Amino acid sequence: MKATADLDHEDTPKLSIEKGEKNMTDAITIHQLTKTYLSGTVALKGITFSIKAGEFFALLGPNGAGKTTAINIITGLANKTGGDALLFGKDVVKDYREARALVGLVPQEFNVDQFEKVSKVLYFNGGYFGLSRPERFNRIGRLLKDLSLEEKRDTKFRELSGGMKRKLLIARALIHDPPILILDEPTAGVDVETRRFLWDYFRQLNRQGKTILLTTHYIEEAEELCQRIAVINKGEIVALDKKQNLLALLERETMTLHLKRKIGRIPKQLQKYHPQEQDAIITIEYNPQKEEAQEILDAIQAAKLPLLKIETSRTTLEDVFLHLTKK
Ligand SMILES: Nc1ncnc2c1ncn2[C@@H]1O[C@H](COP(=O)(O)OP(=O)(O)OP(=O)(O)O)[C@@H](O)[C@H]1O
Ligand SMILES: [Mg+2]
Repeated sequence: MKATADLDHEDTPKLSIEKGEKNMTDAITIHQLTKTYLSGTVALKGITFSIKAGEFFALLGPNGAGKTTAINIITGLANKTGGDALLFGKDVVKDYREARALVGLVPQEFNVDQFEKVSKVLYFNGGYFGLSRPERFNRIGRLLKDLSLEEKRDTKFRELSGGMKRKLLIARALIHDPPILILDEPTAGVDVETRRFLWDYFRQLNRQGKTILLTTHYIEEAEELCQRIAVINKGEIVALDKKQNLLALLERETMTLHLKRKIGRIPKQLQKYHPQEQDAIITIEYNPQKEEAQEILDAIQAAKLPLLKIETSRTTLEDVFLHLTKK
């Protein structure tokens, strides 16, 4: 029996795990994947999830969570200890060559010959995947144009800026036009403008049908790009759901009442909301799915507080993430 995470489920704010048989429309299937390094470090403790063809999926987790380990196993760069990883049904170990051809990897580290020219890096990689010379030239021209690297065609890798190096790794991953793209922290160390540019580019690739698996510890990136998010911590998936359900999991809003002076006791109209008072500030936390803000505002008015101003703030994915990884 296999457990897979479900894409199309009801809108319940909880971890969605579905039992069922292997689904061949899954682009990526990970089942009970474990990894213990020779040093004894247990990097993956049996992770399970699947990604549908065409999905944009994030593996979000802090440093050392096991993201790169999982990706290295999927792309054949590391050996698993147990479990399975399949790409469109092809086993990454048993059907290595077929599986490897289905995926382009943008690694976290720059693993490129420092003295190689940009166009050569792409040309060699095209050869690795069996592309003919004309096909390679065609793809190189297209990718350098799309990634605004045309002027750097004859520049050596070591002479590129950090952002340009990252773009070249992206072009290299796409040279054989694979249906799956895996991005391991693709915007680490790039400036805000380049990050926006890359996000647009990734969205465009996804719209054109590419399945994308992205790892990041940058919550805004997962929130901007992905439809579903798996939160990984210490080698375990601690949550997996649609982005909006993960948010709903902890959906809380906070109303902060700034008063002209400390009042010292909570008015009876507000007691049912269990407010906290400190100095001349009262905070009320509530779940907007259960309690109407208007009802609370009416109670505040009825309590005739010496109000200066009211502020409200929403839970962010960051709050959800901190909550989940703290447990
Ligand atoms: N080659 C290796 N040999 C031994 N232990 C390793 C190796 N690579 C990673 N680890 C360990 O495995 C654990 C997971 O590391 P991994 O690189 O997968 O994390 P990560 O989620 O990608 O982190 P980051 O966000 O820092 O890139 C860590 O404890 C790490 O020290
Ligand atoms: Mg990593």
